[in-house]
Amino acid sequence: MAVRALVYYPDDRLRKVGRKVQRVDDEVRRLLSDMAETMYAFRGIGLAAPQVGVNRRVIVVHAVQDEERGSSSLIGMVNPEIIEKSPEQEMAEEGCMSIPGVHADVLRSQRVVVEGLDADGNRVRIETDGLEARVFLHEIDHLNGVLFIDYLDSLTRDVLLKKYLEDTSRQVESKAPDQEA
Ligand code: NI
Repeated sequence: MAVRALVYYPDDRLRKVGRKVQRVDDEVRRLLSDMAETMYAFRGIGLAAPQVGVNRRVIVVHAVQDEERGSSSLIGMVNPEIIEKSPEQEMAEEGCMSIPGVHADVLRSQRVVVEGLDADGNRVRIETDGLEARVFLHEIDHLNGVLFIDYLDSLTRDVLLKKYLEDTSRQVESKAPDQEA
């Protein structure tokens, strides 16, 4: 396993539509384990392959990593698809490992059903809600070249991104868990 280099906004690779994986082989399994290691190294709660410069439909999610809050499990998924989204939505703050330090409220479906392949190539179906549902939606957006900042009104987005781009002291390492995805 290895921690891979992250791709940062405004890199064009974050705007590409990811290619579907044809076969879950050792290379894909290595990508999944490297992505998990990278997510943990940067204290993230989800990561999509385009964020490590790989244009493929692969994500890892580990939404709750705090024992006291009832830890969720690590999930790696290949070719994930949203099968259902609840009409009920919820507003919550989001961040992204590719846009470190930028956080804003985003409205997302409260509950989702996601299908895809696991690391063994088996079809899996996950029904989840709350933060984990939000992370799945955020990561699958990455596979379609969509970033959470795209949901903000243009004034909020412009102000946040201007500050982000100007902040030359911005470093790769976050000091505290940022709940970024
Ligand atoms: Ni992200």
